[in-house]
Amino acid sequence: MVFSYGRVFTAACALVGSAAAVNTLEVSGKDFVDSVTGDRFQIIGVDYQPGGPLSQPSACLRDAALMQRLGVNTIRVYNLEPSLDHNECASIFEAAGIYMILDVNSPFSTGSLNRAEPWTTYTAGYYEQVFGVIEAFKNFDNVLGFFAGNEVINQQATYSAPAYVRAVIRDMKQYISNNVNRTIPVGYSAADIRNILMDTAVYFECDLKNSTESRADFFGLNSYSWCGDATYTSSGYNVLTEDFSNATLPVFFSEYGCNDVTPRTFTEVQALYGEDMTQAFSGGLVYEWTEESNEYGLVQVNDNGTITTLIDFDNLQKQFNKLDMSRIESSNKTQTSIDPPTCAADLITSSSFYNSWDLPAAPSKVSTYIKSGLPNANTGSFVSVSSTSIPVTVYDYTGKEITGISYKVLSDGESAGPGGNSSSTSSSSSTSGTSSSTSNPASMNSAPVALGGLASFFMLLASLV
Ligand SMILES: *[C@@H]1O[C@H](CO)[C@@H](O)[C@H](O)[C@H]1NC(C)=O
Ligand SMILES: *[C@@H]1O[C@H](CO)[C@@H](O)[C@H](O)[C@H]1NC(C)=O
Ligand SMILES: *[C@@H]1O[C@H](CO)[C@@H](O)[C@H](O)[C@H]1NC(C)=O
Ligand SMILES: *[C@@H]1O[C@H](CO)[C@@H](O)[C@H](O)[C@H]1NC(C)=O
Ligand SMILES: *[C@@H]1O[C@H](CO)[C@@H](O)[C@H](O)[C@H]1NC(C)=O
Ligand SMILES: *[C@@H]1O[C@H](CO)[C@@H](O)[C@H](O)[C@H]1NC(C)=O
Repeated sequence: MVFSYGRVFTAACALVGSAAAVNTLEVSGKDFVDSVTGDRFQIIGVDYQPGGPLSQPSACLRDAALMQRLGVNTIRVYNLEPSLDHNECASIFEAAGIYMILDVNSPFSTGSLNRAEPWTTYTAGYYEQVFGVIEAFKNFDNVLGFFAGNEVINQQATYSAPAYVRAVIRDMKQYISNNVNRTIPVGYSAADIRNILMDTAVYFECDLKNSTESRADFFGLNSYSWCGDATYTSSGYNVLTEDFSNATLPVFFSEYGCNDVTPRTFTEVQALYGEDMTQAFSGGLVYEWTEESNEYGLVQVNDNGTITTLIDFDNLQKQFNKLDMSRIESSNKTQTSIDPPTCAADLITSSSFYNSWDLPAAPSKVSTYIKSGLPNANTGSFVSVSSTSIPVTVYDYTGKEITGISYKVLSDGESAGPGGNSSSTSSSSSTSGTSSSTSNPASMNSAPVALGGLASFFMLLASLV
């Protein structure tokens, strides 16, 4: 999608003014914490994958303003191309107080591991993509982390695929340690395939004495098991909470928001951030920002360049506004001082899941990159952003124009979040859907994810390569 008002943006948004930086986040035990205040950080996020993500400043400015209004503090971004210029967009989100979790893989040539034959794609060419993304974003304080893989491990994956993903985590962490100023966390995003979910989690979180840096720093789960007016129990969230109660790293929903029942009312938000789940989970990201053919969007970009916030946007905003942020942000020392189990075959319960940690060695060219940095990298850096109103008309889902939307540069150390602005001109009411037809959520696999553009794209890719 090409936006036609870039010129207006350039005029309105002179890149002057003081730099605004969020505090960096770090992993402590099973929590993300603010490195300055020590407060716990829970992800209140959306998945963001418009065409050419983070490379069209006018779209980023518009979206950041609307996200501040929605109340999110984090985006997850897929499909990044290291050769593009992301500086303005990354700076726009940083100054808006919105963190970014970035997938290093892309659907483009040599951009991801082939789950069926990972050894054919574990190459220097692949690492030009992986390290290229790290270079593009390493200087931004709002980078919360990188995903080394998304849904690589499923029933179609070859037996040893987990060792390749764990090797990618190792290589990325070594690269960061040698070439980046701070420790940016690296994690994995899993499909909700219940029979291998816990094996996948423990495979990445266990401590490997001869390769401590191959351990994942966080674990994302793409979960679509709460549909319509489900409950904590009928959705299987209770099972997930129990399963992850002993996790030794931050766990969160890297995608959520089943759309079997529409409009979505997002009642799962109160469960996810509620007393029962809050110890086990560090929040989540709703799939997804922009409406596509799979109908998971919160906003619709119209052909005439305007944008419409859909009813799901209003419904989600209402749920976010009910959250008690002071409870959510209080940290818990018990959670920040826990040790991972040592990797051992008996941690793995399924006989079909790889139970060895014999990781492939990095190709020699990759070792050189790790030591000395990626040559000719397109290394990004912050550019100052000034506050401005967004140069595009915004409609609510009834077609009424919403006025007074502005992009706000936050002060140093501030981040965005719920209640940032609730001055909606619309008077929507959340329409509750009929009850979910999911009969056995706990055994549900990732079928809804397969409808999502990206997930199915990767599946297709894996089957073709
Ligand atoms: C780390 O940050 C300092 C201060 O901003 C800077 O001088 C230095 O070049 C940075 N090092 C790397 C490897 O980016
Ligand atoms: C979590 O740890 C406790 C205490 O060690 C143990 O009783 C419980 O069974 C564990 N739960 C899971 C799901 O492993
Ligand atoms: C732009 O398109 C939207 C959606 O079709 C429509 O509601 C709106 O009236 C249009 N606005 C203008 C200025 O043409
Ligand atoms: C702290 O975390 C532990 C372990 O998850 C939990 O049992 C306890 O209730 C938490 N305490 C508070 C005050 O949230
Ligand atoms: C590291 O330890 C694991 C688990 O004990 C083992 O499978 C692997 O072969 C070891 N790797 C090396 C390079 O020694
Ligand atoms: C929300 O925006 C309106 C209009 O722009 C403004 O008057 C109000 O103070 C804002 N509220 C918050 C909480 O920022």
